[in-house]
Amino acid sequence: MYIPIFFLLILFASTSFATDTLTQSSSLSIEKTNDTLVSINGDFSAGFFQVGENAFCFSILFTRSIKPTVVWMANRDEPVNGKDSKLTLLKNGNLVLIDAGRTTIWTTSIVSSFQVELKLKNNGNLVLRTVQGGEETVLWQSFDSPTDTLLTGQPVTEKASLVSSRSETNYSSSFYRLYFDNDNILRLLYIAPSLSSVYWPAPWKLAVDVGRLAYNISKTAVLDVNGKFTSSDGFQFISSDYQTRVYRRLLMDPDGNLRLYSFNEESRTWDVTWQAINQPCTVHGICGANSMCTHDATGRSCYCLEGFKVKDPNDWTQGCEPEFSSSDIVCNNSESASFVHLPHTEFYGYDVGVYRVTSLKECVGICLSLCDNCKGFQFKFNEVATYNCYPKTILLNGRDTPNFDGESYLKLPNAIAINSKKPLNKHSPLNCSVSLSQPLNRTYQKAKRNTALRFLVWFATGVAVFEISVIFLVWFFLFRTNKQSNDGDQQRHILSATGFERFTYSELKRATKGFTEEVGRGAGGVVYKGTLYDNRVAAIKRLGEANQGAAEFLAEISTIGMLNHMNLIDMWGYCVEGKHRMLVYQYMEHGSLSQNLFSNALDWKKRFNVALGTARGLAYLHEECLEWVLHCDVKPQNILLDSDFQPKVADFGLSKLLNRDERGSSNLAFSRMRGTRGYMAPEWVYNLRITSKVDVYSYGIVVLEMVTGKSAMEIHSVQIGGGIEQRRLLTWVEEKVKNAPTSRFWIEEIADPNLEGKYNVSQVEILVNVALQCVQDDMNDRPSMSQVVEMLQSHEKYTHIN
Ligand SMILES: *[C@@H]1O[C@H](CO)[C@@H](O)[C@H](O)[C@H]1NC(C)=O
Ligand SMILES: *[C@@H]1O[C@H](CO)[C@@H](O)[C@H](O)[C@H]1NC(C)=O
Ligand SMILES: *[C@@H]1O[C@H](CO)[C@@H](O)[C@H](O)[C@H]1NC(C)=O
Ligand SMILES: *[C@@H]1O[C@H](CO)[C@@H](O)[C@H](O)[C@H]1NC(C)=O
Ligand SMILES: *[C@@H]1O[C@H](CO)[C@@H](O)[C@H](O)[C@H]1NC(C)=O
Ligand SMILES: *[C@@H]1O[C@H](CO)[C@@H](O)[C@H](O)[C@H]1NC(C)=O
Repeated sequence: MYIPIFFLLILFASTSFATDTLTQSSSLSIEKTNDTLVSINGDFSAGFFQVGENAFCFSILFTRSIKPTVVWMANRDEPVNGKDSKLTLLKNGNLVLIDAGRTTIWTTSIVSSFQVELKLKNNGNLVLRTVQGGEETVLWQSFDSPTDTLLTGQPVTEKASLVSSRSETNYSSSFYRLYFDNDNILRLLYIAPSLSSVYWPAPWKLAVDVGRLAYNISKTAVLDVNGKFTSSDGFQFISSDYQTRVYRRLLMDPDGNLRLYSFNEESRTWDVTWQAINQPCTVHGICGANSMCTHDATGRSCYCLEGFKVKDPNDWTQGCEPEFSSSDIVCNNSESASFVHLPHTEFYGYDVGVYRVTSLKECVGICLSLCDNCKGFQFKFNEVATYNCYPKTILLNGRDTPNFDGESYLKLPNAIAINSKKPLNKHSPLNCSVSLSQPLNRTYQKAKRNTALRFLVWFATGVAVFEISVIFLVWFFLFRTNKQSNDGDQQRHILSATGFERFTYSELKRATKGFTEEVGRGAGGVVYKGTLYDNRVAAIKRLGEANQGAAEFLAEISTIGMLNHMNLIDMWGYCVEGKHRMLVYQYMEHGSLSQNLFSNALDWKKRFNVALGTARGLAYLHEECLEWVLHCDVKPQNILLDSDFQPKVADFGLSKLLNRDERGSSNLAFSRMRGTRGYMAPEWVYNLRITSKVDVYSYGIVVLEMVTGKSAMEIHSVQIGGGIEQRRLLTWVEEKVKNAPTSRFWIEEIADPNLEGKYNVSQVEILVNVALQCVQDDMNDRPSMSQVVEMLQSHEKYTHIN
């Protein structure tokens, strides 16, 4: 009975003096590195966090992740000096953050005559409280003033909104906000110094049409422990790992998307388990004024309109500036200006007004007479057979999307418009790495005391010592790593910066008992089951003979290693040694979709869930702000199932890894066909441009297999005209759908007989309809993976079976 407590005490006494509580009249000082509060469970800490050179913010960190995750900051916009700054709980109960021994930067403005304490709780909430007779009264808490992060149980309210950070490394407040509007609706807002606009939910739709209710004035929204988010305006969503108990955080990301992340205990990283925006260009302000956002197979990118040049290539939110002077266009003079046609182009907002016109000429006249107030206009056919003319004061939120049925015209000085007949192809990808690597550039002038110089000298010395140690460490690791790969030293596992491990050949040989237990064969290699040194069961893929250098291989590997999504397989490590190239993945007990599907192990609910999860995984591969990855070999053998039958897409990134040498200068010019017969899009056959739509096609085929229980390669009888002909699965389904009088009729005909009628009719219908869109011959007619996710998600809630 007493023994465990005794042990606990010893454990506490021996491991740390960390405390979760700060008492009255005491301080946390910036100079003492261990001066932090640590929650009892050890998962959160509160202390000074370095955000730049000699710049610190008092922060709450989640410390279980490989790199500590900032979940709250007291002074994100006003960092304090690395000398003499401290957080003090005053005698009167007020909590103050003092910069450089003098200025109060931040305070809770609480005064209490009772005894108060500051406590960091196990959920990451920092609470200023009084405790009387075991009863806690909260005077202030960090949960009431979130920065960009919402933790489980922490509400968004009228007063507490989320504001994005400038970038992954610059924690200052930025332009994107999750907030409750005056009409009680939860929205995403872009708010720049001089303008603002709402972009989620879609601003041109009525709130009721997107399921929002404006009558509940309580204005609260909160994420529960199971992963369900509920808002008082009726909006709700569940995370894709719903009902698992993990740490989650809802983050207003720097790119304007609102994402839910779940903590992956195994890799100690965060996986995306929900996001608000699936089409990245619908985020406002992401490419600044006079630029266009485009989102196609190459991911999201910005480019300048004709006649404009980029202001800062590392920060597209600043947009583009004219290469001409505004006086080049004489007001109301049609001789001096031309209008350049931009088909399928939308600029959202900033209209001078809406004019009903009967011709393009009329709209041109309106724009000319508005002089400098009209930079161009949007032109759209309307229901009453005339046109709507929208002159724009600013050209912002530009997107070119084939789905937009209007067009735009850009006003340019004649000279420029005539000279440049070039097509608009100045696409330049958003540079996601900029925000990751840019150091904070903070110069500090406040500490102007006599000690300042001495301190600077000490500081410089400190930096120098630190740098020397870093250089030494880097040298040490490089040397050791080289040595290891040269002589096959077996003992160590070197954690690379990306968090996964490097294994030696002999280690993996031992883990797989000499590569004996083969569990699969696929793109470029054989997969073996193995048990790692720490008893984790792994799938080890041995790639064929490498003609690729180790450095190149490592570069690709680290890209794949950065992809964290719950519907993508986790990579644990790799081996690169001589000619050997191996990848180490988590092992999936339930095997592949193909094993499960054709042995009839999946009921309808599981099948729908697999279809949706696979779509989410692929959408993430195609569209996140990461290096763009095509799968190129989507098929049931590459969709693995975990213990809960959650799908995990495997083998992604290999098309890059295996074929680097075969590609031309363009990322998209694959020179040889790849993929698997039966799942391959027509583009491969006709040698057309390869885009993410090839994966969409293969996905469509897989979905048809899941609904029908039939293999894509099987031959089926189809009634064509009067006779019976033999066709593959796709044609078979298309004929059934076309010839049936009602959807109910074809659903019964094509649904897998093994399901014995136990399926949800509307889910079958949406799956087949989506699949048939996915397998259109023309890649432009296929939806994107994120559109697929959206279509399926709206049917996710149906639980009713037949
Ligand atoms: C600070 O913490 C580390 C690790 O917890 C410990 O090794 C070190 O002794 C501590 N330093 C001080 C001054 O308490
Ligand atoms: C308003 O929202 C709150 C919080 O979500 C909820 O508890 C309450 O029932 C809602 N009120 C009405 C009238 O729907
Ligand atoms: C612009 O010119 C048209 C005719 O060319 C004239 O009717 C109109 O008043 C002018 N508008 C301005 C603002 O000068
Ligand atoms: C992105 O920015 C980094 C750092 O400024 C630079 O090294 C890299 O070349 C850039 N990449 C692209 C594609 O512009
Ligand atoms: C960080 O963001 C703030 C606010 O946008 C800006 O003033 C500051 O210059 C940024 N710092 C760096 C190093 O970019
Ligand atoms: C950083 O600050 C210094 C001093 O103000 C300035 O000279 C330098 O150009 C800045 N660097 C960047 C990248 O802004």
